[in-house]
Amino acid sequence: MAIRTILRYPDKRLRVKAETVTAVDDAVRALCEDMAETMYAAPGVGLAAPQIGVALKIFVIDVASGSDDPSELRYFINPEITRRVGEVVWEEGCLSFPGIHEEIDRAEQVTVRALGLDGQPFELDADGLLAIAIQHEYDHLDGTLMVDRVSLLKRRMIDREMKKRALQDARP
Ligand code: NI
Repeated sequence: MAIRTILRYPDKRLRVKAETVTAVDDAVRALCEDMAETMYAAPGVGLAAPQIGVALKIFVIDVASGSDDPSELRYFINPEITRRVGEVVWEEGCLSFPGIHEEIDRAEQVTVRALGLDGQPFELDADGLLAIAIQHEYDHLDGTLMVDRVSLLKRRMIDREMKKRALQDARP
């Protein structure tokens, strides 16, 4: 297992559309474990493969990450959101936008189908934070970021702030 580097906006690799995983083999399982370790180290409640520069349809979520609650680690390989019900506004963060939190419109409940780490399909009905995290990470697989789901004004502010930080980080 290894902690990978999390890409930050405006890294272009965050905009790549992820590809379907053709087989859940040892390499994919090792990648999934790295993603979980990277998510916990950050810490965050979710991480999508494109955030570590891997353009595959995979994300991991643990809504108990960073709390004292027991682990609820879940792996989603080739996920598909098949049902969205209701509307809710949720303040979200993203490991690719450290320190930035914005209110985003989401469905209140979702149903998602995916493959687990064992390669077997499963279906999950989710609400609350889990439903939000699933929609957020699912967006990453399409190259969609939180900055795309806020007002134009906020989008410009976040864009400016993140580009400023990227320049500062690049300085010796
Ligand atoms: Ni994110």
